Amino acid sequence: MNNTFEQLSTNEVAQLQKNFLDWYFMHARNLPWRENTDPYRIWISEIMLQQTRVDTVIDYFHRFMQTFPTIKDLAHADDEKLLKVWEGLGYYSRARNLKVAANQIMDEYDGKFPQTPTEISKLKGIGPYTTGAISSIAFHLPEPAIDGNVMRVVSRLFLIKEDIAKASSRKVFDQAVRKIIPERYPGEFNQAFMDLGSSICTPTSPKCNECPLSPFCLSMQEGLQEQFPVKSKKAKPKDQYFVAFALENLQGAYLLEKRSEGRLLKDMLHFPIVEIQQEDYQKLLKNFSENRVDLFPSLMQPTLFDAESLVAESQMAYDIVPLSQIIQPLYAKGKLPFYQTKISWYPAHLGEITHIFTHLKWHILLFQGKLLESVEKDDFYTREQMKELPLPKMQHKLLNKMHKLNKDF
Ligand code: ADE
Repeated sequence: MNNTFEQLSTNEVAQLQKNFLDWYFMHARNLPWRENTDPYRIWISEIMLQQTRVDTVIDYFHRFMQTFPTIKDLAHADDEKLLKVWEGLGYYSRARNLKVAANQIMDEYDGKFPQTPTEISKLKGIGPYTTGAISSIAFHLPEPAIDGNVMRVVSRLFLIKEDIAKASSRKVFDQAVRKIIPERYPGEFNQAFMDLGSSICTPTSPKCNECPLSPFCLSMQEGLQEQFPVKSKKAKPKDQYFVAFALENLQGAYLLEKRSEGRLLKDMLHFPIVEIQQEDYQKLLKNFSENRVDLFPSLMQPTLFDAESLVAESQMAYDIVPLSQIIQPLYAKGKLPFYQTKISWYPAHLGEITHIFTHLKWHILLFQGKLLESVEKDDFYTREQMKELPLPKMQHKLLNKMHKLNKDF
């Protein structure tokens, strides 16, 4: 092997460990999950920290611990309450996986957190990073916890040229950290990477003159710090287009639905949404904007469409794509409820929102309608009720658009 870290002598490794741990003990951030090494607290914090900044996580962590102080409380958590404490953190499958794993711990380990990396890695939602973080911080095992921070620091330290966007590169970082992680204080050592990565070994303009690792840093010796890590560009998220419907019933409550298919927003409540073609989306965006509202004769009054008159209305002589042209096929496909019901649609859209999931960018255009007859369906929620529900960020963004027509929203 010709990896640079292979060539470090035992003395050099010992000196590097000392420099790094001394620095950590002087400068460690005071964070709530660092108060002790309870594996439950370490686990929850590490899951929260996976896609979310430390500053944001702190309040969520406190609330989560107050609501579910033990593994047993989490295992028995009411789903709605669980999602409510997670609300705003996103990637809700993380919260659901936590509950599944808590039940695994109750059933298979009698409620006691498993203590070996192999067992820990079998818990739902726990991958190699979290396994390493829990093993080292809670159980003091010299296991690497490789995340983006660690890859940045370690690639600079040892001039590792592997593309960090590739999963296969993980192996070399794992080997490098195994070479230098100490038997004593491995958890502190791993957390030193996290703190160094956020304060000193930052993506741009690293503060190398303050860095405890600079005597060992090969990229600094060559002035190449900012060339590392090597990272190929991620593909642009794929665009998808939707219309959303805020449908109000006679009691002033709004229809919310859950997606049952796919992984995104699974089981989370939101206004009904239907995917449409980009071309149709752009027509709707243009033709139903407020500045085209003057083209409607009865603008101050919402237009009344029922399923049959949708067809007639679509032949209106305006240079406009009628809402019904979009809605009619959706009715036909059974994608929208209330086929037979009279609905009065507001003739302009309420604006668009965008929401990015890791590989997807959703564009959602919101329309509002009022049901003019009562319907037998119980998934309507008032604004007050919605405040108590765990709602995905996307739905909060849509609710913010509602102010236009509904000042009390
Ligand atoms: N990011 C991920 N894990 C962390 C931890 N334990 N402390 C600070 N930042 C982190």
